[in-house]
Amino acid sequence: MREANSIDEVQSLLADTGYVCGRSLATVVFLALKLGRPLFLEGEAGVGKTEIAKALSAALGRRLIRLQCYEGLDASSAVYEWNFPAQMIAIRTAEAEGKADRDALQRELFGPDFLIERPLLEAMRPDENGAPILLIDELDRTDEPFEAFLLEALSDFQVTIPELGTIAAPEPPIVILTSNRTREVHDALKRRCLYHWVDYPNFEREIEILSARAPEASETLSREVVAFVQRLRTEDIFKKPGVAETIDWAKCLLALDVVDLSPEVIADTLGAILKYQDDIQRIEGSEAKRLLDEARAQLA
Ligand SMILES: Nc1ncnc2c1ncn2[C@@H]1O[C@H](COP(=O)(O)OP(=O)(O)OP(=O)(O)O)[C@@H](O)[C@H]1O
Ligand SMILES: [Mg+2]
Repeated sequence: MREANSIDEVQSLLADTGYVCGRSLATVVFLALKLGRPLFLEGEAGVGKTEIAKALSAALGRRLIRLQCYEGLDASSAVYEWNFPAQMIAIRTAEAEGKADRDALQRELFGPDFLIERPLLEAMRPDENGAPILLIDELDRTDEPFEAFLLEALSDFQVTIPELGTIAAPEPPIVILTSNRTREVHDALKRRCLYHWVDYPNFEREIEILSARAPEASETLSREVVAFVQRLRTEDIFKKPGVAETIDWAKCLLALDVVDLSPEVIADTLGAILKYQDDIQRIEGSEAKRLLDEARAQLA
């Protein structure tokens, strides 16, 4: 089990896993670890919110438990469920064998063997490598009742299962929540957490990320790709490309043996960075040339 004892150490441990972490993000991560507070990360798509939980899990050698949020997610699928089919089979078997002790059967059916642990319960279990990392991903996709439930679960890290009693975490998990801000998450929940807005990286940092994730790309190509994407983000488009798209695009260009950008190459590979037809149509053709010229002017 590794520990991060300073902000610098957070940055270097994450860098070892290939995650490039700016000073302000490293600071909240350090504080979240030190104070045992949940970390709430908001930001555009593809800027590295989910990835930080994965990187931290690798960096600290902790188990990663992910709760992927979606509309309609309820407490039972987040905490635990009873294995209904297995219970039915056990009942049939008991009937066939002529077992008469109904109480014993009932206790068995609602015992640990038939319990399916879901992420929130799993995250409360002790782990030899230290408390796990609980990633509650894309919280904005759930609805408010689930958020209220979560607020409670995060405040005392224990769950009560009527048939089994209360299960409490001996050591609270490291909690990371993410949101794409398709709706505002309630203040009460935010107040429990340390907050950080994950922004698009600046030019230098995006170059660093690209060299960590696509080291095969030449310096010239990387600089052109990043300059173009950064320029594109200032355009009035429906869906701006994230860091994930920059990396994807560089990999596509490498696969095509492209040495440097041209308007034609850009037009042919726009699908790696823009995912809406309206955006693609806008940028194709003369716009691509203009943006490339401007990006190159900035590099000079
Ligand atoms: N700072 C970074 N260092 C290294 N890689 C990064 C960084 N930021 C983003 N990436 C890369 O971008 C990819 C996308 O990041 P991630 O999935 O974490 O985005 P996200 O913010 O969770 O997006 P979404 O909101 O769409 O879920 C990752 O797989 C990772 O390779
Ligand atoms: Mg994500």
